[in-house]
Amino acid sequence: MEQMSTLPTHVSIIMDGNGRWAKRLGKDRLEGHKEGIESVRACIELCVELKIKYLSIFAFSTENWGRPTAEIEGLWALMIKALRAELKTMMKNNVRLVILGDLSQLGEELRAEIDHCMTESKNNTGTTVIVLLNYSGKWDIVQAANRFIKENPGKEMTAEDVDNYLITAQVPDPDLLIRTSGEQRISNYMLWQCAYTEFYFTETLWPDFRKSEFRLALDAFSHRERRYGKV
Ligand code: IPE
Ligand code: IPE
Ligand code: MG
Repeated sequence: MEQMSTLPTHVSIIMDGNGRWAKRLGKDRLEGHKEGIESVRACIELCVELKIKYLSIFAFSTENWGRPTAEIEGLWALMIKALRAELKTMMKNNVRLVILGDLSQLGEELRAEIDHCMTESKNNTGTTVIVLLNYSGKWDIVQAANRFIKENPGKEMTAEDVDNYLITAQVPDPDLLIRTSGEQRISNYMLWQCAYTEFYFTETLWPDFRKSEFRLALDAFSHRERRYGKV
């Protein structure tokens, strides 16, 4: 592969296809989620290697509450386990972990683990990994508007205000958004933030999306011409 000339500052991923991956192998959906965590690990590793500044991943949408309870509970258990297992490596790799979304609805054990990992890694200066948890783009815009109104009664909101009140205010907009598993939709993800994001879709299911697949997406991005409405 040719030299990667233009790397994105912020890569975002809608990790999709865990269930189908499991089904193909006659396994339980949770096995797909488990294998998907290995892909997360690989993608973080590549971002660290390439010094990509921000990697954000969509881990649970506000709509995902509509899934069977056993799957949801299984997901929380996997997340708790992954956070516990990965903190040491993240510290070693200078990775800062940030979890964003409506965390109030999550269980105490998961919230405590999130707090712990975020506090421990907050001064790391390498790649920032952002996990969007119980998140949706519409929820984000509504919470931004409500918070703004509360803090600035009677004032009109500007586009800059929206940027600053979104839960992702501390993160630059994604340059590249990857969605796996062949679905070509945004599924209520970072609606405002993706105004000028480059999209990359692949048929590969998330548990099969590892470093070589990630490199293909980065290579495709390096050939995009971003015009922002200009000529
Ligand atoms: C993505 O995989 C993971 C989450 C949304 C939590 P899915 O679970 O959506 O897998 P498919 O789309 O059913 O194959
Ligand atoms: C999007 O995947 C949400 C996450 C990856 C967390 P879904 O599988 O929930 O999206 P739809 O239902 O196919 O749009
Ligand atoms: Mg899906």
